Amino acid sequence: MVALWFGVLILRVLAVVHSEAQLLLPTTFSENLSVFHKGKLAVSEPIKVRNSAYSSPQQLLIVSPKEAGLYPVLLFIHGTMISNDDYSDLFLHIASHAFIVVAPQLFSVFNLPSQAQEIEMAATVANWLPSNLQHVLHERVNKQVEPNLDKLALSGHSRGGKSAFALALGLSKTKLSLKISALIGVDPVEGRNKNKRTRPYVLTYEPNSFNLSIPVTIIGTGLGNHTKLLNPACAPNGVNHQEFFNECNKECSHFVIMEYGHMQMLNDVLDALAISMSRVCASKRGSNSIMRRTLGGVMVAFLGAYFGDEGGQYFAILDNPSLAPTKLYANNKGILGLAPSYAL
Ligand SMILES: *[C@@H]1O[C@H](CO)[C@@H](O)[C@H](O)[C@H]1NC(C)=O
Ligand SMILES: *[C@@H]1O[C@H](CO)[C@@H](O)[C@H](O)[C@H]1NC(C)=O
Ligand SMILES: *[C@@H]1O[C@H](CO)[C@@H](O)[C@H](O)[C@H]1NC(C)=O
Repeated sequence: MVALWFGVLILRVLAVVHSEAQLLLPTTFSENLSVFHKGKLAVSEPIKVRNSAYSSPQQLLIVSPKEAGLYPVLLFIHGTMISNDDYSDLFLHIASHAFIVVAPQLFSVFNLPSQAQEIEMAATVANWLPSNLQHVLHERVNKQVEPNLDKLALSGHSRGGKSAFALALGLSKTKLSLKISALIGVDPVEGRNKNKRTRPYVLTYEPNSFNLSIPVTIIGTGLGNHTKLLNPACAPNGVNHQEFFNECNKECSHFVIMEYGHMQMLNDVLDALAISMSRVCASKRGSNSIMRRTLGGVMVAFLGAYFGDEGGQYFAILDNPSLAPTKLYANNKGILGLAPSYAL
């Protein structure tokens, strides 16, 4: 018991030292952090749940570790007209580090919901999790794989990133029946520009104005605000990750994957719609695999800090972003500490 408390104390002291003085931690990590590589666990093939199977309000993609265990859950909302399938390589990376990923499909070619509708749909999916996710896992993965919804993180990419913030800020009409414990914005975007934003508004243009009491990380892309040919930027200045971070109120970190573009966390092989959506965004040539490893690694490190046992890697990356596989910018505000209930 004493040893446990002592351990917690050390973690807390490290966390405070980190945020106030930006000192280098005396870490024991080699330069090769495990979060940036495929994790130790074997992972299920991505599981497709049809709309209305298991009472699901939407079609879902679920990726889970195969081994018996109790795992935190990441709910992930896709970007505009990008299918949940197009992120499957990123999900496999995350799941191999002992997380269950649930990604709803919130549009079809016959039905393109507004942002407000999308937020309601995502809320309905979140409310579906407590009574239903375990049945899918038991039947399709392993009878002994359990979701731990006390450790539920919400995330989304682009417009889906904004939806994730809207849900966490309580802007949905559908009230959430469970608590969100952490929030990840993946290159979140609120609209085409400051004057053409989608409703409900999340951004206020007041620094520190979000009213969030959970840890947040915002991971942007360096090429997101660049134009390509005559196309406007995919993550334009004023409505992108930078402004989300400015308005984040406490315990927030901000990363920018400098040399990659807004769509480069997607699989290398995409469906036709995702290909056409990606083509208009500035991007680095070649495979996206380093981008996926970097983004997946930062997400896993952040989730590990609050939900698991990889917190040290999160602080190590914040202190020394050059540990990432590609050029990474890192910043934070507020006191970053492990959530008390998870520290033990
Ligand atoms: C880094 O670690 C991963 C496993 O965590 C391993 O597969 C890889 O070979 C290592 N790379 C180097 C350069 O040590
Ligand atoms: C912030 O959220 C809390 C509940 O999470 C609420 O009690 C409080 O009134 C909110 N503050 C503002 C300024 O909206
Ligand atoms: C992109 O954003 C960064 C940081 O917010 C800024 O320094 C840079 O000038 C922007 N680039 C363009 C092309 O707007």
